[in-house]
Amino acid sequence: MEIFKINGQKSLSGDVTLHGAKNSALPILCASLLVKGESIIHNCPDLSDVKTTLKILEDLGCKVKRNGDTVIIDASEVTASQIDEGVMRTMRSSILFLGALVSRTGCASIYLPGGCDIGTRPVDMHIRALKSLGATITENGSSITCCADRLTGAKIILPFASVGATENIIIAAAVSKGKTTIINPAREPEICDLAEFLNKCGARIYGAGETSIEIEGVDKLIPCEHRIIPDRILASTYMSACAVTGGDIVIHDVKPTHLSPVFPVFNEMGCRLYLNRDELRIVAPKRLRRVKMIKTMPFPAFPTDSQSPVTAALTMAKGTSVIKENIFENRFRFVGQLNRFGADIAVDEQMAVINGVKLLHGADVYATDLRGGAALVIAGIAAEGETTVRSIEHIDRGYAGLENNFKQLGADIKRIEDEEISKEKDKKSIKAD
Ligand code: UD1
Repeated sequence: MEIFKINGQKSLSGDVTLHGAKNSALPILCASLLVKGESIIHNCPDLSDVKTTLKILEDLGCKVKRNGDTVIIDASEVTASQIDEGVMRTMRSSILFLGALVSRTGCASIYLPGGCDIGTRPVDMHIRALKSLGATITENGSSITCCADRLTGAKIILPFASVGATENIIIAAAVSKGKTTIINPAREPEICDLAEFLNKCGARIYGAGETSIEIEGVDKLIPCEHRIIPDRILASTYMSACAVTGGDIVIHDVKPTHLSPVFPVFNEMGCRLYLNRDELRIVAPKRLRRVKMIKTMPFPAFPTDSQSPVTAALTMAKGTSVIKENIFENRFRFVGQLNRFGADIAVDEQMAVINGVKLLHGADVYATDLRGGAALVIAGIAAEGETTVRSIEHIDRGYAGLENNFKQLGADIKRIEDEEISKEKDKKSIKAD
């Protein structure tokens, strides 16, 4: 098992470039299943969730090649319509294959998805939407089978602007008969990226990023080349680390409109932000100021995925900050670990009250989930002394080589094999021999 070892109290400085957005790459890779030919996807981040998605595509019969950050998926032949249970359980976004598979093969058989343990995360909206498009769904314990000769357009009203449900509907309806309207779709930049990819392939999707989306189903999609948008959550992670360490960094390949919901929070903390086209410089004060109230909400409000890194930054701010988590009911699990650094955070259901402390102390902690794990790395970089972050496989799901990028910014962080666990493993393998 690998862990991060961090020697803290380093102020970040220098330049860093964002990689492609995980939450864009995953649905776009799923959607490539609809294209009979080669989809060429640039800026595709090398993350474990992306690897899992590519493995699913291969299992379904696609040919997959990676060359640097470009991935080529040849979905000319799709030979299976079932996804392995183990793979499904590691990654929630594998639910997006439901729409893609039923549309491409007429039938999809999948298990209920897993992913970060940040809440119950049902998939009822996905299922109801596919039923509206004419699919017959059979649920059998933890597996779902979804069949349709050809999906037919429908009007779908989402009770909540679910990112995944919106993506599933867009993908499923792209090659359907007739018109689909989504009322109250998610408006995240990743939705727009998916629609842009599919439209390049010949789909007719209008209104992505707005309060309703119309999809005129087409008969087939043609291959295209597409560059994944930069990862706005990664940007807010670097910004948080810079903020809490009194740093001064420049982030490259930034889309300012994607980050506009987080800018006011960093301004309120006392950071100065300078934008120059796709470059963002953030200059942090010696000590951050508290933020009165942050409420996570669907785009264009403050993103839930930026909540954990920003919480880490606020642990050392002057004064008391409050964060209300409105998207996932269990997204403060990492706070217990953050308090091991000497942070003073009280959580009451979906509300966190952060009393800023002057100093964090290095700690031995484990990542409870992807973004919570990043928060612990940020705390480790800011804290005095040595920090160990365990269970970093959660972090690798969404951050490509995070330690190298932080090192480039002046952090003292390394990824190592955990000796104790490795020694245990060695003993066991000797016994087995
Ligand atoms: C996506 C992102 C995730 C981000 C989240 C919210 C990907 C791969 N993941 O997750 O990083 O945190 O959006 O921005 O893009 N819900 C239901 N029923 C459903 C679907 C969702 O009740 O059928 C609930 C969820 O439990 C959650 C809320 O709706 O409480 C938001 O979920 P959703 O927007 O669907 O998030 P994901 O697509 O899973």
